Amino acid sequence: MEEYSEWEFDVIVIGAGGAGLRAAIEASSSGAKVGMITKSMLGKAHTVMAEGGAAAALANKDHRDSWETHFRDTMKGGKYLSDWRMAQIHAQQSPDRIRELEQWGAVFDRTPKGQTSQRNFGGHTYPRLAHIGDATGLELIRTLQQKGIHTGMEVFMEYTVRHIFKSDGRASGCFAYNRSDGSLHLFRAKSIVLATGGITRCWEVCSGSWEYTGEGHALAYWTGAEMGDMEFVQFHPTGMIWPPSVKGILVTEGVRGEGGMLRNSEGERFMFDYVPEMYKEEFADTEEEALEWVNEVVSGKLATKRRPPELLTRDVVAKAINSEKAAGRASEHGGAYLDISWRKSEEIKKKLPGMYHQFMELAAVDITKQPMEVGPTAHYVMGGVKVDPFTQESSVRGLFAAGEAATGLHGANRLGGNSLSDLITFGKIAGESAAKSASEIEEFGEIDLEEIERVIEDTLAPLSREGENPAKVVEDLRSMMQNKVGIIRNGVLLEESLEDLDSLEERAKNTSAPGGRVYNPGWHQALELDAMIEVSRMCALAALKREESRGGHTREDFPVPDKNFWGKINIRIKMGDGGEMELDHTTYPSIPKELKKLLDSDDLEEE
Ligand code: FUM
Repeated sequence: MEEYSEWEFDVIVIGAGGAGLRAAIEASSSGAKVGMITKSMLGKAHTVMAEGGAAAALANKDHRDSWETHFRDTMKGGKYLSDWRMAQIHAQQSPDRIRELEQWGAVFDRTPKGQTSQRNFGGHTYPRLAHIGDATGLELIRTLQQKGIHTGMEVFMEYTVRHIFKSDGRASGCFAYNRSDGSLHLFRAKSIVLATGGITRCWEVCSGSWEYTGEGHALAYWTGAEMGDMEFVQFHPTGMIWPPSVKGILVTEGVRGEGGMLRNSEGERFMFDYVPEMYKEEFADTEEEALEWVNEVVSGKLATKRRPPELLTRDVVAKAINSEKAAGRASEHGGAYLDISWRKSEEIKKKLPGMYHQFMELAAVDITKQPMEVGPTAHYVMGGVKVDPFTQESSVRGLFAAGEAATGLHGANRLGGNSLSDLITFGKIAGESAAKSASEIEEFGEIDLEEIERVIEDTLAPLSREGENPAKVVEDLRSMMQNKVGIIRNGVLLEESLEDLDSLEERAKNTSAPGGRVYNPGWHQALELDAMIEVSRMCALAALKREESRGGHTREDFPVPDKNFWGKINIRIKMGDGGEMELDHTTYPSIPKELKKLLDSDDLEEE
């Protein structure tokens, strides 16, 4: 058998973004010996792509805000498919998590009174996003990293986890290889936290970088954990679309939060035509009213008018841009124009410095003078590992999940800014619970030697077999998902996508990556394909099953939401005894009366 190193930790955290770091800090400070495994370098995480801020009802900019309103906005934005218990915990605890970050050194922007500043974002009733210019995720990671490295955790950078072991039904360790030197490693653990982020590299146009290939989701599924809501993928309305080399790179929602307007090729501010019934009372229906709101906000008053329709939820705005394109009113390169140039140049450079430089350097566009060109980009998956809302434990004992790897908080559509606050709220809970669970166990679980041998064999296989270049299979997978499981779906294309996935799976089995174990990117791609295909299949199957349109899932053959059935259930996925993917329905416990009162009764079907 090939040689491998062995390590032992009370808690292993897989992933070093916001959720992973927060979990590791909490587990370490509870006294657990913590190992953190990251596929990339510490500090390099999709968390930095939450640029515009972290949502928390601090009520610094508007005293009318409260956890109750945040809870209501989250449930409404998620089209009532969120786990209300997570939405409540998140709304109640996120303000403390933000204050804690400040104590740890995060340098948030300030109000004139010296409080943490907050900005408007889509679907949030009040300015709620604590931010650091347009680099909030970056500062969050910097702060957590600085705090984390002093807690004594051991960090394994550039390691990809290939398998999670179970002993007596409980997660007991994982197997990883080092991406730079090809060495093999067995990690024994008493608890494992999956904080691996999302899956959006499965789409051709996405805001995520190369790490986002869905290993965490796939690992959980292969370990036997229940998955949920995998049909719900968020296409952020504003990614760059031109030049082609930068297609998909995020343009923060902060631009719209600071007054950015969307226009089509005919110069029309088209979002007024797309305000859904459930949001009609809250959003302006004339340019004049929208402008009055902006003037109130810019001058620092409490906004009394209805919000501009650019601040509708992401699902609505992304689909509107898509519809304008379908109607022949797209911008020059197939998207929409986003214009903030009506604001003073120095304000733009102060509030959106990253966007100013991004457009100047990558597209030669001066956003203080010219509109940006933007279009939808795959940004986030609402689906993931189903977890207990109070502990973040999955249906596999000892296996926890937090952040984008987990599901529950965001329902059918996530509100912008609710991701950073999700990471720190539930990362903390996961770390705490994982450490507690580990402390209740005396010995490490017994790991089967044959299972280790099988993982090693699978991991090394692409190096010696003959076959296709994995990069081509990855490219074909991403283009297929973009075209058949994208923003607008239909039954025929979804059926086709499942057939395509079967043939991509066959091709993936025969990919070849000669060249040895040291710095061999082809090898990494050949291995990533297993996870990419598995999570793509979860998404396509769930999308085929959900015969309605809701949030981040739109079916042209079932164009409206179905309040009576689909609006009440979540799709659960699990591996069957024969290894096949099984789907069924599940619901969260009903919302207690006192919380139900906070929701908009018109949106809800009376029970
Ligand atoms: O647009 C943004 O700045 C992204 C934020 C988020 O996804 O939460």
